[in-house]
Amino acid sequence: MNRVESGAMSKLIALIPGDGIGPEVIAQARRLLEFYRDARGFDLELWDLDLGADRYLRDGTTFPAEVALRIKSEASAVLLGALGDPRVPGLEHARDILFGLRFGLDLYANIRPMKALSDRLVPLKGRTARDVDITVFRENTEGIYVGMGGQFKKGTPDEIAINEDLNTRKGVERLIRAGFEHARSHGKKTVHMADKSNAMKHAHELWYRCFFEVAREYPDIEARHVYVDALCLYLVQDPSPFEVVVTCNLFGDIITDLGAALQGGLGMAASANVHASDPSRVAMFEPVHGSAPPLAGKDLANPLASVLTVGMMLSHLGWPEEERRLEGIVAQAISTMNCTRDVGGTLGTRAVGDWVLAQLRASQS
Ligand code: NAD
Ligand code: IPM
Ligand code: MN
Repeated sequence: MNRVESGAMSKLIALIPGDGIGPEVIAQARRLLEFYRDARGFDLELWDLDLGADRYLRDGTTFPAEVALRIKSEASAVLLGALGDPRVPGLEHARDILFGLRFGLDLYANIRPMKALSDRLVPLKGRTARDVDITVFRENTEGIYVGMGGQFKKGTPDEIAINEDLNTRKGVERLIRAGFEHARSHGKKTVHMADKSNAMKHAHELWYRCFFEVAREYPDIEARHVYVDALCLYLVQDPSPFEVVVTCNLFGDIITDLGAALQGGLGMAASANVHASDPSRVAMFEPVHGSAPPLAGKDLANPLASVLTVGMMLSHLGWPEEERRLEGIVAQAISTMNCTRDVGGTLGTRAVGDWVLAQLRASQS
C-alpha cells in the first residue's frame, strides 16, 4: 500500500544512489533501512531507482515523468546519493534529477545542520564541538538556481551570459518563516539572516525587509542580520553565537560546504529537503557532499553523512528517537576510530557500514 491509499501505514522510500561515491554510501544507508524494516518492523517499502549518469549515457533517460509522478503521489521520502559525473560535463542528468526533485516537489527548505559530533573533528583553534551547532535553512526553489537567462554570441569575443536571480515574496517569506518555526520548536534564541543587500539592491532588499517583518511574529526570538561575506569570517573565527541561519539558495550552498569543514568534512554533513509547512508531503534527503569522482569505486568514501541523513529521514517520518540513536552511533564511530581516512580512521566505506549496523543491532537487543 502506498501513502495515498494507506495514510500513515506504509512508507515508500525511493532510493537514487546516483553517481560516483553515491552508490557506495547509499548501499550502507540502505542496509540500515533494511534493518529497520526487517528487524524492527518499520513498515518501509524500498524502491530502487536506476537513475544517474550510467542510465543517461545508456539510453538518454534523466528523470522520467512517470517516476516523478509516482514519487509525488505515493512516496514518503526520497534518499539521494549524489549526481555528477565527468562523462557528462554538461550535468544535464544531474540538473534534471536534483532540481526535478527540489523544484518539482516544491521542497523549499533545504535544512542543513552544521553540527560537529566530536571535538576531534573541529579544525578551529581553541574551539570544541559545542561551538558548532547551527542549522542552515537554505531557500531551495528560487534564486539563481532557476536557470533563467541565456547566452548570446556564444564563442565570440562579444559573448554575453546572463543568469537571473529570481526571488518572490512568497518564496522568501516561507523559507524565513521555516527558520523561525524551527528556532521556536528547538528552543533557540536567535535567527540570523545572511544576504548581500548592500550589493543586491533589489533581490536582497526583499530578503532584508521580509526577514524583519516575519521576525515581528516571533518576539521571543532575536532576529539578526549579517552580510554573507562577514558570516564566512565569523564562522571560521567563532561559530558559537550562530544557532539558525536563513539564506538564499546560492549562499546556502556555499555556507554549508564551509560549515561541513567545521564538522569534519563533507563526509559528515547531512541534509533534508522539505516542504516545511506540510511535513506530510514527500521529502528528499541527501548527504551534502557530491559524487567525489576521485574517490569513486575505491571503498574510500565516508558513509557517515548518509547515516546521519537516514537519521534525518527517519525523524521526518515519525521516528525522531532513531535520529538521536544514529547520531550517537556516528559520534561513537568517530571517537573509537571506526571511520574512514577523511576523518582520521583506517576503515573502508563498507567496513564503516558493517560497524554502524552492528552498533545499531546491539543498541536494540
Ligand atoms: P564533492 O562534494 O564531490 O567533493 C569535495 C571534496 O570532499 C573532495 O575532496 C572529496 O573527496 C571530499 N568528499 C566528498 N564527499 C566525501 C565523502 N563522503 N567521504 C570522503 N570525502 C568526501 O564536490 P566536487 O568535487 O566539487 O563535485 C563533484 C561532483 O559532484 C560535481 O559533478 C558536482 O556538481 C557534484 N555535486 C553533486 C551534489 C549532489 O548531488 N547533491 C552535491 C555537490 C556536488
Ligand atoms: C549541493 C550541490 C548542488 C547545489 C549542485 C550539484 C547543483 O552543490 O546539493 O550542495 O548547488 O545545490
Ligand atoms: Mn553544494
